[in-house]
Amino acid sequence: MYKVFADIYDLIYSFKDYKKEVKKIKKLIKKYKSTDGSELLDVACGTGEHLKYLEDSFICTGVDINEGILNVAKNKVKGATFKQADMINFDLNKKFDVIISLFSSIGYVQTYANLEKTIVNFANHLKQGGVVIIELWFTKSTYWVGLPSMTTYDGDDIKIARLNTTKIENDLSVMEMHYLIVEKNKDVKYFVDKHELGLFDTDKTLEFMKKAGLKVEFLKDGLMKERGLYVGVKT
Ligand SMILES: C[S@@+](CC[C@H](N)C(=O)[O-])C[C@H]1O[C@@H](n2cnc3c(N)ncnc32)[C@H](O)[C@@H]1O
Repeated sequence: MYKVFADIYDLIYSFKDYKKEVKKIKKLIKKYKSTDGSELLDVACGTGEHLKYLEDSFICTGVDINEGILNVAKNKVKGATFKQADMINFDLNKKFDVIISLFSSIGYVQTYANLEKTIVNFANHLKQGGVVIIELWFTKSTYWVGLPSMTTYDGDDIKIARLNTTKIENDLSVMEMHYLIVEKNKDVKYFVDKHELGLFDTDKTLEFMKKAGLKVEFLKDGLMKERGLYVGVKT
């Protein structure tokens, strides 16, 4: 199932304008970073879509937990270094000028205890004056329960339909993604991909960032609707 997901990841998220997002991220880095270096770490980098547009300006490293997805990134962003690891406790034994973690990936750590560990880990990998930019998942108050959602991809040789609804179970946002995929000369495939993410409060997240030694700012107008961006500078 993960292999299938890695192969179709870029198709299902082809609606996302990664190039435009990186333009905004680059502006924020310029505004907040005071180090001289250009070492950038993308945590939960996925298939490397952001790194693809960052590698012209930075020395890039990507970390992700999913091997299949990392393989897609490695083939796409040849100049970057990749490591398969968990964002909660990875140890790269070096410090970066910039750390980004986008498209709500940090929500996958699920609990506040893990969120705090993850933020401390980010701060430990940051140089003094370096900047971390995190895009969280929704908070409890911005998350819509029972929202029907559909994403489709209509290529010549492959068609994908993904449907899900949004639920809260045990304090987590739960989405069972039902995929129907048909490829040229193949049978239709159906599978369910379950996602469970933490709905972390803005105040609590900012508190963890401050506690980790970061000067913080929450930018309401982020990359995607109602998610915002958390910017931290290591003091
Ligand atoms: C929604 S995708 C975002 C990927 C990428 N940042 C993007 O913008 O396309 C979430 C990613 O988080 C990764 N992930 C989930 N839990 C993780 C963990 N504990 N540590 C590292 N990566 C994780 C998944 O493998 C997946 O690639």
